[in-house]
Amino acid sequence: MPVGPPCTSSTRHNPRSAPETPEASITGNATRPQRFEGFPCRIRALGPPDPTSVIRPHSRSRPRRCTAGTRQTSARARSVHRSSWRTPTPCPRIRSRSTRTTQGSGVAALHAVFFTHLRAGDHVVVSDVTYGAVWRLFAELLPVKSGIEATFVDITDLDAVRAALRPTTRVIHTEVIANPTVKTADIAALADVAHAAGALLTVDSTCTPPPLFRPLEHGADLVVHSLTKYINGHGDAMGGAVIGPRELILPIKSEAMINVGAAISPFNAWLISRGSITLPLRLRQHLAGAQRVAEFLDGDPRVLHVAYPGLASHPQHALERQFGGQGFGALIAFALDADHDTRNAFVNSLRLVTSAVSLGHDETLIVYEDAPAGRAAMFPEVFRTHGLLRLAVGLEDPDDLIADLAAALDTAVPAR
Ligand SMILES: Cc1ncc(COP(=O)(O)O)c(C=O)c1O
Repeated sequence: MPVGPPCTSSTRHNPRSAPETPEASITGNATRPQRFEGFPCRIRALGPPDPTSVIRPHSRSRPRRCTAGTRQTSARARSVHRSSWRTPTPCPRIRSRSTRTTQGSGVAALHAVFFTHLRAGDHVVVSDVTYGAVWRLFAELLPVKSGIEATFVDITDLDAVRAALRPTTRVIHTEVIANPTVKTADIAALADVAHAAGALLTVDSTCTPPPLFRPLEHGADLVVHSLTKYINGHGDAMGGAVIGPRELILPIKSEAMINVGAAISPFNAWLISRGSITLPLRLRQHLAGAQRVAEFLDGDPRVLHVAYPGLASHPQHALERQFGGQGFGALIAFALDADHDTRNAFVNSLRLVTSAVSLGHDETLIVYEDAPAGRAAMFPEVFRTHGLLRLAVGLEDPDDLIADLAAALDTAVPAR
């Protein structure tokens, strides 16, 4: 299928990466960095989605033949397709040798990292709070299926991390701000620990997308993003990305991408590229809204506990320096001074906030977790006892969100 020249133009972040795709510019200068509302941006073009499933990577036409014994000139879109080339590089290439690979979901990207860089007999040190699928991979699946052992530790306790290391430790894995407890990891300190042990530091930065945080700049070896969340931003497409140096990314492409096959759909790649254009501006609203909402919850006597790194009471509040003072993400975990039915009534009374999984969407989402089993057995005591309400603050006016939360508290939770 012929692919026409790029025909639309738009602003997007990612100031330092060299263009990897044919691009056009309304200014005639596709690489000139721009500044927009304080965020560095670049004028770039977004072409149409390309649904082709067999392509010639360096040509705009379908392959005419692909015979044994001749140089392979075509590839399946599972290996690479034009739209995935356009998927945003969520972390600018801070070293010229950094690159990325895109996958069909954040979980696929995480799995691709572990599938490629671990083998039977290897040991992994994992943060005690990670996204549920990572917890299940290391707690239940990989030990049995692949002979990979894991130790879960409090990732904020560097002595505990060092104590968990073994001669076979190949990877330390953490989220920057953990979903859902918002425990916050010191990435530079963990990179030092990992490298002293000859291990890789792999970091899931889904809840801290750029320009808020760029883990490679702090010593991480591989960075994973669920593009489904903030980078797409609209809750309408799934994708994942792994970013890192070529020598760590190319094996992921040749092993996991081709042979496991969790390729991103071309249309989703295109949607995510389009959504990412507004990421810096959306992120600013997410961060400002989350700080306001966290302060409101913290001041209400019916709320027993609020975990948000932007509150001085949060144990890792001092890690503000890591985020350059820009903010602390948009996830808030809180517990109500109420029984199970009252907590459900509170969630049901919300009118603006939607009760749904996921995060990083335009709308604010809430999830109520009340089963202290599995990974939740490692949550802080207050959440194990009183349940955990996770609020993923969206793009609404914070005053409207606060009014909705206040009304639901008034409806469901008796005054003390
Ligand atoms: C921190 C984190 N990583 C990874 C994922 C998985 O991403 P996806 O839903 O794109 O598979 C999620 C999903 O909620 C997440 O919160």
